[in-house]
Amino acid sequence: MRTQVGIIGAGPAGLMLSHLLHLQGIESIIIESRSRQEIEGTIRAGVLEQGTVDLLNATGVGERMMREGHVHEGIELQFNGNRHRIDFAELTGGKQIMVYPQHEVIKDLVAARLKANGTIFFNVSDVKLVNIESAQPTIEYTNEFGEPQVIECDFIAGCDGFHGPSRQSIPKSKRVEKQQIYPFGWLGIIAETPQVNPELIYAHHERGFALLSTRTPSIQRHYLQVDPKDDITNWSDDRIWSELHARVDLEGWTLPQGPIIQKNIVSMRSFVCETMQYGRLYLAGDAAHIVPPTGAKGLNLAVADILVLSQGIREFYEQGNQNILQKYSETCLKRIWRAQRFSWWMTTILHTNQNHSPFEYGIQLTELDNVTSSPNAAANLAENYIGLPFELPLYKHELSQK
Ligand code: FAD
Ligand code: DHB
Repeated sequence: MRTQVGIIGAGPAGLMLSHLLHLQGIESIIIESRSRQEIEGTIRAGVLEQGTVDLLNATGVGERMMREGHVHEGIELQFNGNRHRIDFAELTGGKQIMVYPQHEVIKDLVAARLKANGTIFFNVSDVKLVNIESAQPTIEYTNEFGEPQVIECDFIAGCDGFHGPSRQSIPKSKRVEKQQIYPFGWLGIIAETPQVNPELIYAHHERGFALLSTRTPSIQRHYLQVDPKDDITNWSDDRIWSELHARVDLEGWTLPQGPIIQKNIVSMRSFVCETMQYGRLYLAGDAAHIVPPTGAKGLNLAVADILVLSQGIREFYEQGNQNILQKYSETCLKRIWRAQRFSWWMTTILHTNQNHSPFEYGIQLTELDNVTSSPNAAANLAENYIGLPFELPLYKHELSQK
C-alpha cells in the first residue's frame, strides 16, 4: 500500500490528523492496535479547551458536541471547608471550556473519517517503523487476519500514545526524555447520580485530593487521589463513596450518591520527549508527552501538536518547503512546557500525602488562598486552564469558514 501520511494510532491525535489532512486533500492511512469498539469505549478525558472546541466546530465534527456537551464558564476550588469560584469568562474575556468525553470525540472523528471513505485498519499488531531517516519511510505490521502488510509513505505520524513503538524508533542518542513520576494516582468512577454542581469542583483535603466532574445530567465522573500502586479491588463502592464524602462534603451539603458503573486507577507522570521529530517521523500527543490529568491538558495538547503538524505537511505538498516541519518540535515544545508547568502546579497545590511537611501543607493552602483572592493569580490560572491560543498561520481563513 502507498499513502502520503502513515498514521500510527487512532486516538484523538491520529484521528484529528487524518481528518485535517483529508480536508486539505492529503491522503492518509491510520493503523490502530485496538478494535473500534475498544477505542470508542475507553473512558478518559472530559475537558476540552475553547481552541479544541472551535477546531472541532470549524472542521465539521462539532455538531454532537454542541448538542450534548456542557459549556462551563468556570471551576470551583474547595479547601478549608469553603468553595471559591474561578470565573473563566470574566477573567479571560468570555472564554469557556466544554465538558464532552474523549470517547465521544473519538466516535465523532471515526464516523467522519469513515463517511469520507478514510482508511482505518483496526486490530493490527507487530508494528515496525522502517527507514524513517529516508524520504520514503515504511510501516510494517500484521493485519487483523494475521497477514503481514507494508505501508509506504512520505511521512509517518507517531500518534500511538505513551506505550506505542514510535518514540522508541528514534535512536536513544537523538532524544532526551525528561520526566517526573508522582506518588499519586487517580481512582476514577462513573456513577449514576444527579448532577452535583453546575461546574467542576477541585477539592484539596488533608485526606487527599478529589475532583467532581460530570458527563450528563444523570451520569457523573468523579476522581479520588489514591496510592498509584493501590488495586481497584481494594475499593468497594461503599469505600469510594465514604472517602468522597469525607473529602468533599461541606456543612449543609452532601455529595449525591448512586450506583457506580465503572471504576479504575491511573498513575500520574509528567513526561517530555525532546525531540518530537526524527527524519520523516513526527511524534504527536501522548507519544511525545504526558501531563498529570489535574490541569485537563493531555487531549488538548495532542490536538495542538496536530494543528502544527498538519500545517507543516500541507506546506510541504502545496509549497514544496519544510519551513513549518523543520520547526515542528520547537513550536510544539513551547506550548507543551507551558502545559507541563500548569499541570505540575495544579497537581502540586491540590494533592496531599503523609510525606508532606506541615510547612509544605501551609504553602499549598497559601497557594490556594492566593489564587482565589488575587485577581491576577486567578487570571493566570484561568488563562492556562482555558488554553493558550493555537498556532494557525496557514488556517486562519479556511477554518473560520468551514
Ligand atoms: P491516545 O489516546 O493514547 O491514543 C493512542 C492510540 O494509539 C490508542 O488508541 C492506542 O491503542 C494506539 N496504539 C498504541 N500502540 C499502538 C501500536 N503499536 N500500533 C497501532 N496503534 C497503537 N486530557 C484533556 O485534555 N482533558 C482532560 O480532561 C483529561 N482528563 C484525563 C483524565 C484521565 C483519567 C486520563 C487517564 C487522561 C486524561 N486526559 C485529559 C489525557 C488524554 O486522555 C490523553 O492525553 C489523550 O488520550 C492523548 O491522545 P493521543 O491520541 O495522543 O493518545
Ligand atoms: C475531567 C478530567 C480531568 O483530568 C480534569 O482535570 C477535569 C475533568 C473529566 O474526566 O471530567
